[in-house]
This record gives sequence, structure tokens and C-alpha cells, in this order.
Amino acid sequence: MNKEIIYGITGILDKPDDVINAAKKLEEADYKKYDIHTPYPLHGIDKAMRLKPSPLGYFALAFGLTGAITGLFIMWLTMSQLYPQIISGKPFFPLPALIPVTFEITVLLASVGTVLSMLFFLFKLPNNSHPLHDTDYMKKVSADKFGVCIEAKDVKFDLEECRKFLESINCHTIEPIYYPEETINFRPKIFETKFVMFLLAAAFLVSGATYVLLNKLMFVEPFNWMMFQQRLDAQYPTKFFKDGFSMRTPIEGTVARGTTPYLYKGNPEKAGTELVNPIEATKENLAVGKAKFDTYCSPCHGYQGNGDARLNGQFPNPPSLHSEKVRNWTDGRIYAVIMDGQNSMPSYASQIKAEDRWKVINYIRTLQRALNAKEEDLK
Ligand code: HEC
Repeated sequence: MNKEIIYGITGILDKPDDVINAAKKLEEADYKKYDIHTPYPLHGIDKAMRLKPSPLGYFALAFGLTGAITGLFIMWLTMSQLYPQIISGKPFFPLPALIPVTFEITVLLASVGTVLSMLFFLFKLPNNSHPLHDTDYMKKVSADKFGVCIEAKDVKFDLEECRKFLESINCHTIEPIYYPEETINFRPKIFETKFVMFLLAAAFLVSGATYVLLNKLMFVEPFNWMMFQQRLDAQYPTKFFKDGFSMRTPIEGTVARGTTPYLYKGNPEKAGTELVNPIEATKENLAVGKAKFDTYCSPCHGYQGNGDARLNGQFPNPPSLHSEKVRNWTDGRIYAVIMDGQNSMPSYASQIKAEDRWKVINYIRTLQRALNAKEEDLK
């Protein structure tokens, strides 16, 4: 039953210099599986032991990359494949906007993954016992001594030879370390079926009891007129309407608040006779009109409305706004051009609000009058 197996052989040293020296000797003698124990971090010991850098960095890299790729993938999947929606005119996969989230997920996975892999891969959790635990050797090297331990796993391991070797590097209190066989196939208690069953049963009972207590025994209905009201949920089907949709299109002739319907679409002549400019040509209104004209109209029509476009021929030059024709048009007729566009000129209804369209027209009138002043204007 309790068969003891050899783990290794240990020796104690008194001074830090001795232990660094010992490490160099061990390296020279080509021992591979050995370890040095010191009560505090010792400068130069890694170099003497020729320790390679910890593999933990690779774990961090692997987890970090996994995080970045998973994060980007999920955002790509939802934003450009499952729910493609135009948000502020951005592309479906706006990389710069996704960087903060990607960064957070990368850092989260890298840090959590590094800690967990340290515990489970390097420290071999849940196995939390080590043959050196609770030995006199460990008590000494965690107080004020320095120790060397050559492990039985080393290919060169031979109890007598290692004892001699430790003596040759001035170790004292040389002791072999044994450990019971059953710790090799150590299975921590938490993986025993009984324990797992107990945990599951406990979780089930506690959550069940909580549910019954809070939702049945202690539940008091606060008020129900909101919970059980008759209503239609957006995006959900309904039996109320014949077509089964709960979301309705507005009925014909609906006017949205704050807007005035334009009744002359495709009928500029009618607009010309029926629409009247409601805006007075005051100094303030003309200033707004000029600002809007310079922004929206002047690229093609020129600052004075002469038709001298600044677009270098990328767009057909419009006719002058000082023609006999346009001068004789009513304000309503020009309004129709802004609303509907005209041939190659597109509509500017969505860029300029109703009030400002009239102000632009007042400004065009001012330009026209400036270039075709009448006798009485000069008085
Ligand atoms: C992208 C260039 C462009 C912009 C910007 C533009 N227009 Fe025009 N506009 C044209 C062209 C081209 C025509 C001539 C269309 C045609 O062939 O009938 C035109 C025609 C007109 C006419 C009729 C002229 C005529 O003799 O038939 C008016 C009035 C007019 N535009 C007013 C405006 C106003 C007001 C704005 C600013 C809100 C504006 N345009 C912005 C290109 C433009």
C-alpha cells in the first residue's frame, strides 16, 4: 500500500554565493532536472542556472490573439452579416470604431488567460501538493538557508553519486526525499463523483428554494394595469390586424408634426401660380439667404448667379439666373426648382429647410435687381 517513491535528493547551503556557485557546478556537470530554493529572490541565479524565459508570455500572446480575433469576428458577424444597419453613414464594418472593444477583449482574455494558465498549466492546479511540501528541507529554505534539490527524473540521477556531488559542492544536511505512491495518481476531492453530485444537488435545492420563496411565497403583485394592458409590441405579430403586423404605415395624408406638405411635386407651373413667398426680405433674412445660396447653389450657379460653376466641368454649367425667363418667374416657380430640381439639377429640399428656401429666393431677387437695376432703384 503505502509504498514510498524517491523524489530526489536535497542539500543545504548557508550563503547565497555558495548556492550560485552550486548552480554553476550543476550546469557544468550537465544535470537537467534540479532546482534551487532560496528564502528570497536571488540576483544572478537565473543566469547561473541558465534558465530560459518563462513560457507564460506565449500563453498571454495566444489568449490575447484569441480575444482580438473573437471580438472582431463577433462584431463583423453582427454588424455586417446578421444586422447590417447604416449608422451615421459609416460602413458596415467600421474598423476604427471597433478598436476600443477589440482592445478591451484582448486585454481581458490575455490577463485572465495568463493567470489561469499559470495556475493550471505551470502550477498544476488542482493538484496542490508537492513532495517537498512539509519537509524539513522546505522549512529551512523558506527561513534562512539555501537549498539544492536534484530530482530523480534526471537521467543522470543516482542516489550515491548525487550525494557525493552535493558533498563536493559543500552542501550539508544531505537528505533523500520520498513521497507516498498514491500522490502520483492524485485526484483532488472536488472531482470525486460524490462531491460533484453534492454540489449539483445543493445548487438545485438552493435555487429552487429561492425561486419558490421570492416568486411564490413572498410575491406581492404591485399593480397590474401596465403588465396586462392591451397593447401591440413593435416587431411582434398581432392578431388584431388582418395582415398580422403590429407596426403600421401612416395612413394616407398624414402630416408629420413641424412639417408642411408640398403639394406641387412634378407641377412647377401650378406652384408658380399658387405659392406665395411668406418671408420678408429683411437684412437678417437676406444674410441667411446669402449663406445658404453660397453653400448650396453657388458651386454651380456662381456667387452672382451667372452660371459660372466652380466645378471645372464635372457638372453641366447651369444657365444664368439673370435671364429674362427667371427674372419673370414668380418666387413660387423658383421654389418649385429647389423642391423638385430641374432636369440635371437635383432637388435641394432635404438640404435646406422651407423657411430658408424662401430666403434664398429673396437673395436671388437681390442679385437680379443688382445686375438689372431700374431707373427708380438709383434714386
Ligand atoms: C449641382 C449643380 C447645381 C446646384 C448646386 C444648383 N443648381 Fe440650379 N441648376 C443647375 C443646372 C445644371 C440647371 C439647369 C437645368 C436644366 O437643364 O434645366 C439649374 C437650373 C436652375 C434654375 C432654373 C434656371 C433656368 O433658367 O431654367 C434655378 C432657378 C436654379 N437652378 C436655382 C438653384 C438654386 C436656388 C440652387 C441652390 C438651392 C441651385 N439651383 C443649386 C445646377 C445646379
